[in-house]
Parts: sequence; structure tokens; C-alpha cells
Amino acid sequence: MASFTDSVSNFFKGEDNDTSLRGLFIELLKDIYYAEKKLTDTLPVLANAATTSELKSAFQLHLQETQTQVQRLEQVFRSIGEEPDEVTCEAMDGLVEEGNEVISETTDGTLTRDAGLIVSGQKVEHYEIATYGSLRSLAQMLGFTEAAQLLEQTLKEEKAADEKLTTIAESFVNQRAAAE
Ligand SMILES: [Fe+2]
Ligand SMILES: [Fe+2]
Repeated sequence: MASFTDSVSNFFKGEDNDTSLRGLFIELLKDIYYAEKKLTDTLPVLANAATTSELKSAFQLHLQETQTQVQRLEQVFRSIGEEPDEVTCEAMDGLVEEGNEVISETTDGTLTRDAGLIVSGQKVEHYEIATYGSLRSLAQMLGFTEAAQLLEQTLKEEKAADEKLTTIAESFVNQRAAAE
């Protein structure tokens, strides 16, 4: 199956459409800029709601990374001569809403709560991984070398955050939650 960036690349191949591809890149940047800022408000809520110290500290650590990612996106905007700007990311609004539902539908202090929060957290990370992977490829196509490097750094952090949640889930949360 062709990836999003393959499709975009094929679509623009041989056409003098750098202006519109640049426009698409900027729109996607505004979308993830909104999403990352929203996550700086949401991760403390998830950390507070988590039962185990392992999951709490995973969310807290990722909050610090997310704050850096917001600044990194500002650098990306400026590296291509644009001021940082945002547009509402309805996908992230929906994922955050799902996280809130997990909190309201599970009991405080249970491992079922953590199992649910891990699912919510991983949905967010997967959305970010898809977005940053596409943005990095677009930056490369457009010759935005500095932007591509910055986006690659964040992509690595999102992948590591996702793997850490998998590790926590596999190590104890799911097994013990099944016994509740
Ligand atoms: Fe992020
Ligand atoms: Fe993330």
C-alpha cells in the first residue's frame, strides 16, 4: 500500500507545485502544533489519574519531552521563515476526549484504569508518529533540511514513548488488571 508521502510525492512529481506542497506542509505543522500544546495540558491529567508510579512517571517524563517538542515546532516554523501558528486538530481533540472517558469510566486506584490510560496514550503516540513521519518526508522533499532534522528528533521521541508504554503494559499492568 502506498504511504501518504508516496502519494503526495507521486501527485506532485514533475509538476511545479512546490508552492502548494509547502502550503500543505505548513497546514500540517499548524495542526500538530495545536495538538502538542493540547497534550501539554492533557499529560498532567493522565499522570494524576494513573494508579501506578511507573505510568505516572512515564506521563510526566513525556510531558517534559512534549514541552520541548512545542519549542522544536516553533523552530521548524522559523527555519522556513514562518511564524508559529495553530489550527484546531479535531483528531487530537477526539483522542483527548477518549482519555477523559477512560478516566470517568474506570475506578480510581485500579490497574484497569492504567490499562485504559495506556491504550489512550498509545493512540496519541501513533497519531503523532504518523504525523511526524509524514512531515519529515515532506520537509525532505521540499529541501527543508533543518526542519527535517528537527522533525526526525521528535519522531524518535514519540516512538520511544510508545515503546515505553508497551513495556509498562506487558510488564505488569495488563496481567494484574486481568485479575481485578
Ligand atoms: Fe509529541
Ligand atoms: Fe507524544
